[in-house]
Amino acid sequence: MQAIKLADGIHWVGANVHTEDLFEGIWPIPEGVALNAYTVQGDKTAVIELVREWGGAAMTFMKGLKALNIEPEDVDYIILNHLEPDHTGFTYMFRSIAPNATIVTTEKGEALVDGFYGITENVQTVATGDSLDLGQGKVLHFTEIPNVHWPETQVTYEQSSGILFSSDAFGSYGIHKGSIFDDEQPEAIKPYWEDQMLRYYANIVATFSSNVLSAIDKLSGVDIKMIAPSHGLIWRGSPGTVVKKYVRYANYSKELQEPEITIIWGSMYGNTETMLNAIIKGASEYDIPIHVHQVPNEDASFILRDVFKSAGLIIGCPTYEYGMFPPMKYVMELLNEKLMRFKKVGFFGSYGWSGGAKRDFDKISERMKWDIEEPLLFKGYPSNEEITKGEELGRSIAQKVKEIPSKIEGEDY
Ligand SMILES: Cc1cc2nc3c(=O)[nH]c(=O)nc-3n(C[C@H](O)[C@H](O)[C@H](O)COP(=O)(O)O)c2cc1C
Ligand SMILES: [Fe+2]
Ligand SMILES: [Fe+2]
Repeated sequence: MQAIKLADGIHWVGANVHTEDLFEGIWPIPEGVALNAYTVQGDKTAVIELVREWGGAAMTFMKGLKALNIEPEDVDYIILNHLEPDHTGFTYMFRSIAPNATIVTTEKGEALVDGFYGITENVQTVATGDSLDLGQGKVLHFTEIPNVHWPETQVTYEQSSGILFSSDAFGSYGIHKGSIFDDEQPEAIKPYWEDQMLRYYANIVATFSSNVLSAIDKLSGVDIKMIAPSHGLIWRGSPGTVVKKYVRYANYSKELQEPEITIIWGSMYGNTETMLNAIIKGASEYDIPIHVHQVPNEDASFILRDVFKSAGLIIGCPTYEYGMFPPMKYVMELLNEKLMRFKKVGFFGSYGWSGGAKRDFDKISERMKWDIEEPLLFKGYPSNEEITKGEELGRSIAQKVKEIPSKIEGEDY
């Protein structure tokens, strides 16, 4: 994909990245990720976001400029809305071939440009309310949206087109397939994007949901005709849809979650797994989605996606060296880190002699504002009575969760 027009004088010059690397060194991206970068041309030329030298992205970006007949030395401004290296890794090299380009970022961003790339010359700082006139009616307006998800984050609004370049806000995992625009997505690809967006949000943004809502509030008076994030779809047909989706996601951090259950389980020798099946059997009597993930076999990235939206959460694992089965401890720490609060929760697991998993569960869940059922702990292989209790635990959580109304409505695009 090369240089795709968004509006007169405004183009996408990003890249699809396919890689076995983990995003941020943690999160698998089997479907890749798009690094969206843009050009805005008036009398002056600005590039909004760069890319990282990753899976050929820097070369694709350069080809995009070439397709528009923009030579690096013609670039007057590099707008860096957010300094995370997935968008800025190419800064040092690009500035060396685009020596006339002024880097435009926030004051906090300026310190990161120095910290990451050692660049201090020709850096211009902007703040909320500032604008940059590129000529021919192209004017960029800047608004800081701190902590979505880095402290220096800003968005850039281009006045003549009404395009909001929103940085990571409204972003997504996943490469573009055929078209970068929401209004050109075939029906069959829409579930792919929902999945990629939700997992991106749960992994990258969830900790900052209150900042997301503040940012949306701050931008509520702006006449936005198109939303162009730094990853994922460009929302040309229905920018309101992605805003609604992000509001829904942000509310998953509060008490507004879906009537679904996610079960996370781990087992060394099958005893906890035996109880897992009893719990699923009980919960299945209610007609609600149940997502089941085994640790460590399944990556936490996918588990977070399902836990985040589910009002019900059931955790099952054995005791390991007087504490919780370590891969479960890791996942639970992430649930805490990502503020996955306000859930109906069950806990179960087998132990041999002392127990100890529950102590770790209690320690981590203390801050979670979870409504926790009586834990189901059993020695070795579960007895018939314990199996019955397991089925009851599954039923009890499912019953509570089923009463919650679904939040997914009216977001078609
Ligand atoms: C490496 C290892 C460490 C364990 N540490 C403890 C422990 O500290 N306290 C305890 O009560 N049981 C401990 N156990 C026993 C298990 O919790 C017990 O076998 C349990 O039934 C395993 O459940 P599972 O079949 O679901 O893996 C340990 C087992 C293993 C293999
Ligand atoms: Fe980022
Ligand atoms: Fe990013």
